[in-house]
Amino acid sequence: MINGAMQHRTFVLETPRLILRLLADEDEEAVHQLYADWDVAKSLSRLTYPFSVEAARRFIADARAGLVERSTYMLGMFERESGAFVGIVSLRVPSQNPALPEAERAEEAGLGILGYSVARPYWRRGFASEGAKRMVAFAFDELGLSRLQASVLHGNPASARVLERLGFTVVEAGVVEEPADGGPPRRADRYVLVRRNRAQ
Ligand SMILES: CC(C)(COP(=O)(O)OP(=O)(O)OC[C@H]1O[C@@H](n2cnc3c(N)ncnc32)[C@H](O)[C@@H]1OP(=O)(O)O)[C@@H](O)C(=O)NCCC(=O)NCCS
Repeated sequence: MINGAMQHRTFVLETPRLILRLLADEDEEAVHQLYADWDVAKSLSRLTYPFSVEAARRFIADARAGLVERSTYMLGMFERESGAFVGIVSLRVPSQNPALPEAERAEEAGLGILGYSVARPYWRRGFASEGAKRMVAFAFDELGLSRLQASVLHGNPASARVLERLGFTVVEAGVVEEPADGGPPRRADRYVLVRRNRAQ
């Protein structure tokens, strides 16, 4: 059920306070500031750190490519009222990822992987919860996915709370995660939400 809004350049999801849209070149500095902040980056195993302006540029280019192939929906969250960049919410769909072997793609059919980050000045105002909720609805109702997954590193109660409010539950506790930047392995809890159990 993919409508006209799925044209990648005009791709937009809306919530009461936020516009979620594809990142553009002019968002480079905002993306850089978000992930160059260690208080944000330390919770993200897939991010390389330090995060340079060049890394932000690549991040935006990858987001665009991911949306074209429908393998990743990496969307900027912008406050409706001010237009300010608030953070990022993402959904990866491994079955659509051409870089993965065919067998792995088939195994991951119906799966989406949720992620989100909010710039520090906007923490504790419900933006992660609001953006993630919209992405969950998009994943189930518009993409027809059957289950969503997310991982939360130990010591990140805010992220765990975002997932719990959406109805996610822990399916594997204490999984070892290797950070992309080669730091020491860390423990995370893996959460899952299946479509029929989602919070309303
Ligand atoms: C996790 C993160 C996205 C939360 O963003 P946010 O917009 O502040 O989250 P919300 O305002 O929607 O709050 C969600 C819940 O967490 C709670 N919370 C927020 N910060 C908290 C903290 N430091 N400790 C405990 N609970 C906290 C809120 O009270 C809220 O709970 P409630 O709904 O019961 O009131 C943000 O802290 C962040 O970007 N962290 C770094 C990146 C990251 O961890 N991403 C997720 C990786 S799995």
